[in-house]
Amino acid sequence: MKAQVVIIGAGAAGMMCAIEAARRGRSVLILDHAKTVGEKIRISGGGRCNFTNLDIQPDRFLSQNPRFALSALKRFTQWDFIAMVDAAGISWHEKTLGQLFCDRSAKDIIAMLLDHMEQVGVRVKLGISVAGVSHNGSSFTVATSSGDIECESLVIASGGKSIPKMGATGFGYQVAEQFGLPIVATRPALVPLTFAEQELEQTRALAGTSVQANVSCNAANFSEGLLFTHRGLSGPSILQISSYWGDGDTLEVNLAASNDVAVELKTMRSETGRISIKNALARIIPEKLASVVVSETGLVGNLADQNNTALDVLAQRVHHWTIKPVGSEGYRTAEVTLGGVDTDVLNAKTMEAKNMQGLYFIGEVVDVTGWLGGYNFQWAWSSGWAAGQAV
Ligand code: FDA
Repeated sequence: MKAQVVIIGAGAAGMMCAIEAARRGRSVLILDHAKTVGEKIRISGGGRCNFTNLDIQPDRFLSQNPRFALSALKRFTQWDFIAMVDAAGISWHEKTLGQLFCDRSAKDIIAMLLDHMEQVGVRVKLGISVAGVSHNGSSFTVATSSGDIECESLVIASGGKSIPKMGATGFGYQVAEQFGLPIVATRPALVPLTFAEQELEQTRALAGTSVQANVSCNAANFSEGLLFTHRGLSGPSILQISSYWGDGDTLEVNLAASNDVAVELKTMRSETGRISIKNALARIIPEKLASVVVSETGLVGNLADQNNTALDVLAQRVHHWTIKPVGSEGYRTAEVTLGGVDTDVLNAKTMEAKNMQGLYFIGEVVDVTGWLGGYNFQWAWSSGWAAGQAV
């Protein structure tokens, strides 16, 4: 079997690349070992797919070379993808922080991509396993469970390692290594963080409690929801900070980001001092959390019994809680993989390997990782589109 372009991985990046390449008149075959295309799109955004963000900025992407992603992100922007979504008649809404979601279902995005692929004549082969790829000096051969496929351009769009249960593999990294491309060390990102038993003893009772928090680590900080879990912490602020957190790092957490606890308690004391210090704090933060914080500080009695220093200490504990996670929940639950194919060896305009003509890497397999909030899909669309113009 032959095609001018073979794309391995029918996810967000692979399908966008297939559409663009076939639109240019290239014969395109996209293959995947999964039985259906776009499985991660289907489950994304709680089933509604946070397909892009209105506020695409370079500082929302992590990479050893943060400028690498700019060219593709500027050539195929969030507005270009929104125009595609609008043209398909898919209604959407902004949830928060510029995050755009389908009104109805993530399946609408998959149907849109399938429609485009059909219109431009992309051949789709699913349920195929790839044994390996080789290059004979002029063309590539992809050895698959349904025979060899020869192509001029080979696009690796096989994603990262997150959610192995859904078919994620390290395949793309192996191909990169086979052709001598370096890999920036990979690790799970946008992932819940876990505590050691000692910390869990303090926080286990809080599982299910959520607050609006500000979480900082290594000069990054995020003000979003935080959720206590049976294993540690989750919620958007924690998923975001997980991309910046490394082994041994401490998180600083403001558990009441939109309050001034000392001022509020002192005001309350002058008005209703005859309530317990725990109940007073529970008017500002969730009751279970108030109970844990108050017992940690050792304060007892009513609010009226507390002097300014005691209230300042309590406020300090709420606004500057420090905690050292021991790890993360790993690829099992991570939304993305940090690291990947080193951008230094890829052409930023085309995604082609500098040392191997005809070999392209797009999407999550590349060392470009977005924040939570539609940034990772935008990278998949933009890098897929860029390669689609060049293959
Ligand atoms: P993707 O992983 O989508 O596709 C890779 C494809 O390659 C898969 O279909 C896989 O089966 C195939 N493949 C892998 N190995 C293969 C092999 N050896 N042979 C053949 N095929 C192979 N992002 C965002 O911006 N907004 C959101 O709402 C969400 N939500 C979200 C929820 C959850 C639960 C997860 C896990 C992730 C998200 N993300 C997200 C992240 C987003 O899903 C991710 O960044 C993109 O899907 C990456 O697109 P790619 O096309 O690069 O890889």
